[in-house]
Amino acid sequence: MGKKRTGNPGLMKLLTTKDGREVSLRPVELSDAADMLVIDRLTTEDGRGMVRSPEDLPADVDTMREELRSWTSGAFKEPWGCCFVAELGGRVVGYSEIKRPKARLVSHVAFPAIAIHPEYQGLGLGQLLMEVLIDWAPKESSIGPVRRLELYVRADNNRAIKLYEKLGFVLEAVRKDFILELDGRFVDDHIMVRFLSPSGSSADT
Ligand SMILES: CC(C)(COP(=O)(O)OP(=O)(O)OC[C@H]1O[C@@H](n2cnc3c(N)ncnc32)[C@H](O)[C@@H]1OP(=O)(O)O)[C@@H](O)C(=O)NCCC(=O)NCCS
Repeated sequence: MGKKRTGNPGLMKLLTTKDGREVSLRPVELSDAADMLVIDRLTTEDGRGMVRSPEDLPADVDTMREELRSWTSGAFKEPWGCCFVAELGGRVVGYSEIKRPKARLVSHVAFPAIAIHPEYQGLGLGQLLMEVLIDWAPKESSIGPVRRLELYVRADNNRAIKLYEKLGFVLEAVRKDFILELDGRFVDDHIMVRFLSPSGSSADT
């Protein structure tokens, strides 16, 4: 992936996918709701990654737009969180989000999550979108930097586990039979963590 800075304030970075296409990375906007709902529907139907069923999703684009307000003006507006999107050919093809708890004694913890449109997986976007969260986390703010990144991943989501391991996350615990699939199968879930120093590099635990 090549990276170059841009002068456009809304645009954080211009990037190139593994197959040479240009992608822009920027904070989410309410007008992204339709594209993001498509990603959520497809990655949920896929059944291999997300811990949710179709009825957990926003029913329509208007509802999705209301949910996005939590990033632009609501509970997870900076410094409590952030949501970034990757845009390719005028369409949002992936996003990553991060949330910090309001409770003071645990607000140094942050919870990242990520989803890429199935047609755009394997192009390096997942890694780029997770790296942007890792860059965001140690930023100085009124509530201090993030020390602990914590995420949850299905034990059978091998591609996501490989991505997180590549980015320095380690397995902390297995939540046995945490997920009960609609077909009656139980699936384990992993808690993975990465500790950050104030500079953002991985810290000794
Ligand atoms: C998991 C997901 C985010 C990965 O994003 P992606 O853009 O497809 O991944 P990238 O192209 O950035 O790959 C980065 C790394 O991830 C791992 N990876 C990606 N696809 C993989 C696969 N099919 N098998 C094994 N490892 C894989 C590799 O370590 C890869 O690094 P490499 O290219 O040097 O081998 C994406 O597949 C996705 O959105 N899945 C559905 C939703 C989901 O599972 N979200 C996570 C919930 S915890």
